[in-house]
Amino acid sequence: MRTIVAVSVVLVVLSFALSVLSANVTYDHRAVVIDGKRRVLISGSIHYPRSTPEMWPDLIQKSKDGGLDVIETYVFWNLHEPVQNQYDFEGRKDLVKFVKLVGEAGMYVHLRIGPYVCAEWNYGGFPIWLHFIPGIELRTDNEPFKKEMQKFTAKIVDMMKQEKLYASQGGPIILSQIENEYGNVNSAYGAAVKPYIKWPASMATSLDTGVPWVMCQQSDAPDPVGKILQFQSIAVPLTSLMLTFLNIDTSRGTLQINTCNGFYCDQFTPNSDKKPKMWTENWTGWFLSFGGAVPYRPVEDLAFSVARFFQRGGTFQNYYMYHGGTNFDRSSGGPFIATSYDYDAPIDEYGIVRQRKWGHLKDLHKAIKLCEEALIATDPTSTSLGPNLEAHVYKTGSGACAAFLSNVGTTSDATVNFNGNSYQLPAWSVSILPDCKNVVLNTAKVNSQVMTANYRIQSVDDSVAVQAVQSTWSWINEPVGISNSNAIVKPGLLEQISTTADHSDYLWYSTSIGVQGKAGSPVLHVNSLGHGLHAFINGKLAGSAFGNSGNAKVALEKPITLLPGKNTIDLLSLTVGLQNYGAFYDKTGAGITGPVKLKGTKNGTDIDLSSNSWTYQIGLKGEDLGLSDGSSSQWVSNSALPKNQPLTWYKCAAITTFDAPAGSDPTALDMTGLGKGEAWVNGQSIGRYWPTNIAPQSGCSDSCNFRGPFSSSKCLKNCGKPSQKLYHVPRAWTKPSGNTLVLFEEIGGDPTLISFGTREQGSLCSHVSESHPPPVDMWDSYAKTGIKSGPVLQLECPLPDQTISSINFASFGTPRGACGTYSHGRCSSPRALAIVQKACIGSKSCRIGLSAEKFGDPCKGVAKSLAVEATCA
Ligand code: GAL
Repeated sequence: MRTIVAVSVVLVVLSFALSVLSANVTYDHRAVVIDGKRRVLISGSIHYPRSTPEMWPDLIQKSKDGGLDVIETYVFWNLHEPVQNQYDFEGRKDLVKFVKLVGEAGMYVHLRIGPYVCAEWNYGGFPIWLHFIPGIELRTDNEPFKKEMQKFTAKIVDMMKQEKLYASQGGPIILSQIENEYGNVNSAYGAAVKPYIKWPASMATSLDTGVPWVMCQQSDAPDPVGKILQFQSIAVPLTSLMLTFLNIDTSRGTLQINTCNGFYCDQFTPNSDKKPKMWTENWTGWFLSFGGAVPYRPVEDLAFSVARFFQRGGTFQNYYMYHGGTNFDRSSGGPFIATSYDYDAPIDEYGIVRQRKWGHLKDLHKAIKLCEEALIATDPTSTSLGPNLEAHVYKTGSGACAAFLSNVGTTSDATVNFNGNSYQLPAWSVSILPDCKNVVLNTAKVNSQVMTANYRIQSVDDSVAVQAVQSTWSWINEPVGISNSNAIVKPGLLEQISTTADHSDYLWYSTSIGVQGKAGSPVLHVNSLGHGLHAFINGKLAGSAFGNSGNAKVALEKPITLLPGKNTIDLLSLTVGLQNYGAFYDKTGAGITGPVKLKGTKNGTDIDLSSNSWTYQIGLKGEDLGLSDGSSSQWVSNSALPKNQPLTWYKCAAITTFDAPAGSDPTALDMTGLGKGEAWVNGQSIGRYWPTNIAPQSGCSDSCNFRGPFSSSKCLKNCGKPSQKLYHVPRAWTKPSGNTLVLFEEIGGDPTLISFGTREQGSLCSHVSESHPPPVDMWDSYAKTGIKSGPVLQLECPLPDQTISSINFASFGTPRGACGTYSHGRCSSPRALAIVQKACIGSKSCRIGLSAEKFGDPCKGVAKSLAVEATCA
């Protein structure tokens, strides 16, 4: 007995000492459990290399302010181990710094190591050198692959452990992921699937992180083996040391949680009732492809999907992406993934909160957290309130009660009876009732303000506007064809990725053909696996062809002119981001694999050049010379600036430099005027540009009906315009003056037409109707006083030192239009403008209740709303 007491005392003392330093993370049927407490966790994806370290603290703070508890990131293997055994964790690759910053902000981290990540990232995150390991097969039961995957995973886990970043060590990492959506493709891998999928599961758990691992979209993720902790029955929080002492092996005991990815995951159930219902990717929009229109997802639908998930038993939800950012360098996957990875995320590519999205989700997170006590205590009970209408109730023994009422119908609003009260439920919406009585939020009723953005455009060479524009540019012509003495000669056509090892987007294929007698005019026919090619005959561009994101393959057919004697055929094949998704995606290949033919030569026959002797050059001469940093002595500016000429390097310089726009607003280069290529600012690649790749003319809608299931092609904008004309230039990469901009223009363009766009905030607007619930943050005062407020319109200037300087529009009645285009409707109160001006001007923020007493009733019996547009200064 004495021993038991002594052991218990030691355990309790140890528990207190260690609980200060470390958190014990596990899970049960309802939730992720941190230090013995089930948690409702709201998470968001921010990929560290898609912004700069200078942006990280602000992005993390904005995530926290938006109501997130967790930041999720992938780990990008090819970024950290570009050459086998040579690691890089500097600058944008400083994973440890990123994780620490999240921890310092008081948030948790979900580290999705993968190391296959998909993510619209080059080659899905795999280093290209894997491809060259003899006998390797990726993502299957293959020893050489497993050896490398284990080595990298262990390396990352060790790094995190050394820095004490796991929650079990007092750090912020509460979850890790191994593999990524293998379940979506594994049927293609045949018999090797079963042994393979067990392997990462046990390999990962053997690394003893002390926190749970997840496998997303893996319905056969292995079940826990060994001892499983039933946390419901544990009263005292247990630390890792105590668990070791008690011989309870948490890391091995907490094997893989299978989680859901998708636009909706409310119907998902994990593969064991010992695992919580978790959603690792709720796509907040979709990614942009060169040649595609810009996808967006209405916040009413996104909020609906989240509320449905929590309504139906979910307790962990992650936005993919919360900040999408930018695919700098050649990091975008593909093929044809654009440089912007904005994703219509709640924080936009430039790091600015995207309103109304960010604000409405913030309100939603508050509403869900008001239900936390009831949510974690029990499973919901559901009742039908009619066709498409459902109520889910979470009720605890101690009297806490939260309810979610939903209308999943896509056309009709409904009025439902619940607990003796009547509630109006718009189509495709969820109402949240933290006390089972009062609605704190309806997902289709947005209280959040909206902020428009303006662009101030400035020519890149404005700083020297008085000088002749041409004097600010210098250039170097990239030679057509083989210019490198290391070129290789081979019979037949080579696959591109195996040849270049992705050291460059470009591979030259050169051959020649002799013509005897009269010149002919055959058709040049070239087949390529992708992604694009330019054909030069005797040094002149004869034609170009590109694949697209739906079909990367290229078939060029071009009439050409051959001269008597020797004719050179130089084919420049190029990739636009390597494939990142699909079974065996790594084997897709690229480049000119043939046939290459001359059709209809003068004697009427086709000549197949495919098995000719071809000379190959990997990459461009300018890449070898390191032109991208601008320091070469070979730049020339002593004759007319070449325009619309393919294969030209340009350097922008008012003699040697240009000035960046003043201030701290984010900057972007408007590349209109150029064709396709890559751009560098002070030696840093801002990514591939391609403003001449235009989105289809049709398929877009300015306002997309949020009601009904969303898909990646449902809501598109920007039809008929360049898929991407603005390219983010992070502030941290520019200096006030003395910057160097280098461009490699592949197709031909006029660099003097490009300009700097500085993003500045536009107007601040809000539009609230009489049927909106009061703002979520008024719940506390209601809970204390029992006094209910009606709907309230709120405005707040986004920057700390700003106040509302003018009211550009105010209407109480039936106003129409959107922010920037509001107009009065059939009825409007004459008092509205004066009331709003009085309440708001000179203040940082203001709130105006929507009461008919205040505004007068301009049209009795008609549903009214208040719309306001203001300016902050
Ligand atoms: C998922 C994948 C992510 C990302 C997403 C689309 O299937 O896991 O990495 O590619 O699709 O943006």
